[in-house]
Parts: sequence; structure tokens; C-alpha cells
Amino acid sequence: MNIQQLLGIELPIIQAPMAGVQDHRLAIAVSNAGGLGSLPCAMLSPENLSQALRVIQESTDRPFNVNFFCHHVPAPDHSREALWRKTLTPYYEIFGIDSETIPTGPGRQPFSREIVDILEPFRPPVVSFHFGLPEPALLDQVKSWGSKILASATTVEEAIWLERNGADAVIAQGVEAGGHRGMFLTEDPTTQMGTFSLLPQIIDAISLPTIAAGGIASSEGVTAMLQLGAAGAQIGTAYMLCPEATTSRIHRQALRSSTARHTALTNVFSGRPARGIVNRIMREIGPFCDTAPPFPMAVSAMAPLRAAAEKQGSGDFSPLWAGQNTSGCREISAAEITLNLAGLPLSG
Ligand SMILES: Cc1cc2nc3c(=O)[nH]c(=O)nc-3n(C[C@H](O)[C@H](O)[C@H](O)COP(=O)(O)O)c2cc1C
Repeated sequence: MNIQQLLGIELPIIQAPMAGVQDHRLAIAVSNAGGLGSLPCAMLSPENLSQALRVIQESTDRPFNVNFFCHHVPAPDHSREALWRKTLTPYYEIFGIDSETIPTGPGRQPFSREIVDILEPFRPPVVSFHFGLPEPALLDQVKSWGSKILASATTVEEAIWLERNGADAVIAQGVEAGGHRGMFLTEDPTTQMGTFSLLPQIIDAISLPTIAAGGIASSEGVTAMLQLGAAGAQIGTAYMLCPEATTSRIHRQALRSSTARHTALTNVFSGRPARGIVNRIMREIGPFCDTAPPFPMAVSAMAPLRAAAEKQGSGDFSPLWAGQNTSGCREISAAEITLNLAGLPLSG
């Protein structure tokens, strides 16, 4: 079954949820163009989540996706936090930041009972998860409204686990992909495969529809994935320069420049491996840093450095998330990108 049949959309294109660089506007534009627009919810407050859902339902009668993280929040670990701040101290000194005044605490909330209650009146047609799936009682409730469940797999084992635990389709997230790796059964970055290798092996191992993600930036790329047996394609990076995205000026500049050709997986911004354009802090303490605390605990100590550098127009301490293939990034509307990816003319 392809994703048009499974999700009730016209085109085999899912706009990847991208926390930090988009809101409901990108999702609405893609859904109205015939793809599946996605709202990243991992960083939204309960009030902002309901507000965004209301606006989406008023603005499109097409299916859309809401996306959540399913990580376990680690217990506070003061010695680990102190070690991390020590690693960052030379940088705090550059900007005159007093590390004693930086608040600690998780920067991202996982899916929860509270979120289920907010979602219920909206019954979103599609709900997708990164870092595994929520606990069975919560997942069952979401499924009871008829929402289709998607989740990212970065290994064959994760795809099999998602099939056994209630997903309706699996997103095969190749290592080229921008942003966080959805890995949840392994922490070992050497297990991560490119899309061209991962997709066929997942298709062989499970019977659910499998969606290709990572490095897809053109209609030819989409066609290649469909030919390999994908049920559809999920594309993130190519949408980042759209006017409907909220990508910052610094991030846009980096995406437009040749530095975007050098990306790497890094844990220095959040504590979990994620792909971004290589910048100063990744080069100097990473890309993998042993003292970074587990996700999402690394976020708070890095935040003031990012803010101070960005104030000076610098992305040296910002997570410049991007996939390996930025060739599809163009400053055109999200509808145009969606139709281009589907190989259709703009008039539809
Ligand atoms: C800026 C950015 C933020 C992302 N944030 C999320 C997110 O919040 N949730 C999620 O499931 N995936 C997230 N991803 C990963 C995408 O779902 C997808 O795997 C990836 O964009 C596909 O590869 P591509 O970027 O090469 O198209 C993000 C990707 C990017 C580039």
C-alpha cells in the first residue's frame, strides 16, 4: 500500500516535521498542495499546541501530521551537568556568561497523557513519533480515534520493533537525514546506514508500508525511492528555505553557502546524535563530546552561547540542522517544492 492510500493524500510526499525551523504555516501549505504537511510539536507548550491545531483545522480540510518525541527524560545528574558546563567554560568566558545563572532542566518534553488529552478533540489524521513509540495505553488511545501512526526507524531492528508495537507505517531514516537521528534501540552511530541501503533491508524485513527519508531532494530522488519499493518519501531539508518555514536568517545563510556541503552527526547541541552543518563548536569540542549529558539535558547549557553568538550574527554555537543533500533547498513556496518533488508542474 502506498501512502496516498494509507493517509488519504494525493502525492507520495510527506513534509518532514522539523522542530525549530517551522510552524503550522509550512504544514498547511504542504497539505493544501496535496502532500502531507507535518507540525513538529516537541517544543510546543500545551497552549501553543492547541492553538496550532485550531489554525490547521481552519486552514485545510486535507490530512496533516502532528509529530512528537518519545524519549525518556533522564534524572537530573548534577555532576554530569557540572562536567558539561566545565567543557563550555572557555566559551562562556568569551561572551562574559556567568554559568551559575543558567537554568538547568530538560529542553524537550516527551509525548504524555496531557498531550493525548489536548489532541483528542482534534483527532489528527496522522500522528508521527521520533525516538520510538509512546507507552501502549497512550498509543492505543490515539489509534482509537483513527489516527494513522508513523514512526522513524534507523535500523532494521527498530523497524521490526515498530511493526510489532503498533505503527501503521515505518519511516526508514537514512543517515543522510538532517536533524536528530530517530534511533531508540541503539546509541551506536556506527549502526546508522544510508537511505539506499536501509530502505530495501527494512522493506525485506517488515510487511508495513515503508517511507524513505534522508537525502531526497528532487523528483528523481523520490522516483528512485518509489522504485526501490518505498510507499512514499519524507523530505525535510529541501523545505528549509521556503518562505513558509521559520528558519532563522543565520541558518538560511549557512544553507545557501558552500559550507552546507559539510554536515556531520553531533551530540553537542542536545545530547543525541543529530545532523547539522559543521560549525565552530562542533569542530572544537565534537562532533561527539563525551561530557555532553544525555538528551535533552545538553540543550540548556548551550542555549546562552547560541543566543550570545546569534546576537553578533554568528552561527558558531547554533544547531544548523541540515541533511547531506541541500541541493533541493530553494527560496520558493512550499507548494512549489511539493509539486516539484512529485514531478508535477506548478499548475498541478
Ligand atoms: C531542521 C530539522 C529538524 C528536524 N526535526 C525533526 C522533528 O522535530 N521530528 C522528527 O520526527 N524529525 C525531525 N527531523 C528529521 C526529519 O523527520 C527527516 O528524517 C529528515 O529531514 C529527512 O532527511 P532530509 O533532511 O535529508 O530530507 C528534522 C530534520 C531537520 C532537517
